[in-house]
Amino acid sequence: MSKRLPWKPNDVSAVATRVSPGEPPPVSDGCAPRPPAARPVFEARALTKTYHMGDVEVPALRAVDLDLCRGELVVILGASGSGKSTLLNILGGLDTPTSGHVRFSDHDLATADAVALTTFRREHVGFVFQFYNLIPSLTARENVQLVTDIADSPMRPEEALALVGLGERLDFFPAQLSGGEQQRVAIARDRQAA
Ligand SMILES: Nc1ncnc2c1ncn2[C@@H]1O[C@H](COP(=O)(O)OP(=O)(O)O)[C@@H](O)[C@H]1O
Ligand SMILES: [Mg+2]
Repeated sequence: MSKRLPWKPNDVSAVATRVSPGEPPPVSDGCAPRPPAARPVFEARALTKTYHMGDVEVPALRAVDLDLCRGELVVILGASGSGKSTLLNILGGLDTPTSGHVRFSDHDLATADAVALTTFRREHVGFVFQFYNLIPSLTARENVQLVTDIADSPMRPEEALALVGLGERLDFFPAQLSGGEQQRVAIARDRQAA
């Protein structure tokens, strides 16, 4: 099931695909059926991001409207350069929009300062970066441990790594792991934060 969104990132159409196994078709706002009182957990309205490169303006997001509901698995598809990372950076509290509204639950992400965004990321966001972002001089266990130290109620790094099938690779450095294994370390680290 896919839904075309009313946004125009760089004039390349993007599609969000919602995957809700066993769920009936969505209601008109695109969210899965929910109690009348519930509202989307993420809400973006007229979200715009413009980068400035000297005198040149690069419009990365133009008036994006988006609702995301709790428990949904959503895929954002679009051509390279269409604004996917920019959108995810804003939803994940890594960046702020040039204009527009965006909130997660009661957090206003458009006007939050750096401290509020840091707290939001620590309490609510798990990132799995495209390029892993592991620290090369730390082992798999130590890379996960870094987040364990700041998360509220983390599981042990050994437990998180066992969950992604790396219980036998705890003391390997990133350079000693395959790309997929490094990605799994990043997922284990992400589980500590979320
Ligand atoms: N830091 C930046 N400074 C200037 N332009 C940027 C920056 N980041 C992204 N862009 C531009 O914004 C547009 C969207 O980029 P991005 O969100 O990374 O796209 P995607 O993730 O869909 O490939 C591109 O045209 C890109 O060149
Ligand atoms: Mg990208």
